[in-house]
Amino acid sequence: MIPFNVPPFTGKELVYMQDAINERKICGDGKYTKMCNEWLEKKTRTTKALLTTSCTHATEMATILSDILPGDEVIMPSFTFVSTADAVVLRGGVPVFVDIRPDTMNIDEKLIADAITNKTKAIIPVHYAGVSCEMDTIMEIANNHGLKVIEDAAQAIGSTYKGKACGTIGDYGCLSFHETKNLSMGEGGAILIRDKDNIDRAEIIREKGTNRSKFWRGEIDKYTWVDAGSSYLPSELNAAYLYAQLEKADDIYSNRTSTWNNYYAELKELADNNLIELPVVPENCGHNAHMFYIKTRGLDERTEVIEHMKKNGICAVFHYVPLHSAPAGKKYGRFHGNDLFTTKESERLIRLPLYYGMQEADLYKVIHVLKQFYFSAGRIKRGMW
Ligand SMILES: Cc1ncc(COP(=O)(O)O)c(C=O)c1O
Repeated sequence: MIPFNVPPFTGKELVYMQDAINERKICGDGKYTKMCNEWLEKKTRTTKALLTTSCTHATEMATILSDILPGDEVIMPSFTFVSTADAVVLRGGVPVFVDIRPDTMNIDEKLIADAITNKTKAIIPVHYAGVSCEMDTIMEIANNHGLKVIEDAAQAIGSTYKGKACGTIGDYGCLSFHETKNLSMGEGGAILIRDKDNIDRAEIIREKGTNRSKFWRGEIDKYTWVDAGSSYLPSELNAAYLYAQLEKADDIYSNRTSTWNNYYAELKELADNNLIELPVVPENCGHNAHMFYIKTRGLDERTEVIEHMKKNGICAVFHYVPLHSAPAGKKYGRFHGNDLFTTKESERLIRLPLYYGMQEADLYKVIHVLKQFYFSAGRIKRGMW
């Protein structure tokens, strides 16, 4: 079976994990966590990066930092992972879902202003498949209405919008280093903090509400409980694993990009025949080849394609079920405006296998099997390939 994902492994992970053990510091904020934070700060050119236990937790930190209180509304797409909404619901807030753009599958920036009420506190744009949302418009709306912006950049490490790293444009950016992401530490993530004034509180929230970070730096002689917080600090073992990947980030990026480009070039013919749709990357956006998806003409055809791939030993998968249609989405959130594209487009989407080190033979098998589906079903004229 060609898997959908293989967690990245570059070679030095175990060496660095052993080194962390030799250092006799495997809890958080040791040498590897610091090196990862600094790497992220340098690469993304953000003010402060803090590794966290997941992107889910980074988003929770961002909603605490944004002072989301019971009844506050937060605008987001419904086509996203549950964590985007959970972080708001855990604070007693209300996720307000607006429709997506059918081209990028990202929140439709033109629909955000209409969803704003006097309870709106923040916007959470989600950079789907590592392709940035239209951040200039979103930031302008946020600035005009005094709203916080929390970028869900779970899939967007290494992606850019007008040359700026995704996750660094809004007040906070949340990254994921889950095993399905381009760079991984098993489970983990990071919060990127744009403004200097928010760093102290972020460090406190991440360290169970204490000022222990200051203590470790020798800025105070004992630490104490100063605010509400939780345990969002990952172990050094996970950070050591991640650091090995950060060192190889360029390799991982070019390897994934080459697979992505091959998929695009080879499947263009199906798209030109209006049999499938390919991902759209707007001109302003530099993407990180996180995901290669196609869109079929409808739900039934998608089911057939997934089945055909499975029969031929390929794991291709659909993605989010829109949150407003889920039981918790109905209980805690609401959809503003019309669902013109969220449900329809999500039902057509299939993600193809894409991971660091994917063999060319496997890539071409996926392409062949997909073409075979359309060919043998008589959906295009014989003799085209
Ligand atoms: C858009 C989005 N946000 C948040 C998450 C959660 O990331 P994590 O597993 O690191 O908590 C994911 C995970 O896939 C995601 O796709």
